[in-house]
Amino acid sequence: MPRKLIAGNWKMNCLKAEGIALARELGVRYAQDSDPEYDLLVCPPFPLIDAVAQAIAGSGVMLGAQDCHPGEKGAHTGDVAAPMLADLGCTHVIVGHSERRQDHKELDLEVAEKAKAVVRAGMTPIICIGETEEQRDAGETLTVCARQIAGSVADGLSSDTLVIAYEPVWAIGTGRTPTTADVAEVHALIRAELSRKVTDAENVAILYGGSVKPGNAEELMHVPNVDGALVGGASLAADDFWSIAQSSR
Ligand code: 13P
Repeated sequence: MPRKLIAGNWKMNCLKAEGIALARELGVRYAQDSDPEYDLLVCPPFPLIDAVAQAIAGSGVMLGAQDCHPGEKGAHTGDVAAPMLADLGCTHVIVGHSERRQDHKELDLEVAEKAKAVVRAGMTPIICIGETEEQRDAGETLTVCARQIAGSVADGLSSDTLVIAYEPVWAIGTGRTPTTADVAEVHALIRAELSRKVTDAENVAILYGGSVKPGNAEELMHVPNVDGALVGGASLAADDFWSIAQSSR
């Protein structure tokens, strides 16, 4: 079974002082935990990555980013390359988040290229997939997720170089979550589809994301094939994020 991963996606939140305080608090708590049984990851916005790296140094908390460009370097104003993130100490990069797919019209092929760039730079991509409310209502959840796995998961990855996050778009920031039976069904489908792509699909961590809170984390984190969480809003408060992490035990 994959080791549990609790990841905080801070999205476009936190000024420097807030980010440092949050990261420090998590670092202190995680460092004091003698047997955490799970990995803890924070993904601040780009301008805070370096400061957060210093705030969590030596604590065991891992550092990630929220996106990257598929290229190594070059004339791409405003973009950030994967090697720059590795250079700052990042171990993970979220790619294909639904907010990027919506706001920046990212398609599966580009997501797969970004994932490859992340792996080339020595880090692990967290590839996000998930259906919209319209697709769910039309009964297309499983076909949409299978199609996104086929298109967004680059070939040649293994459990060492791949994390999947299932985030139903309609559950993000809404306080609504699928039933545990629905989560179990989709995660089982994801694992089956991954077996077409990677040789050790059983070891790939598959995170659930979308309105994970202290009150529902325990239930969600113990659904079969759920190997952790990708947390948005609740990752911005140390107590809430910590409580979610404890629920994963
Ligand atoms: P919320 O936890 O705020 O619903 O966000 C989930 C998410 O998009 C994490 O990537």
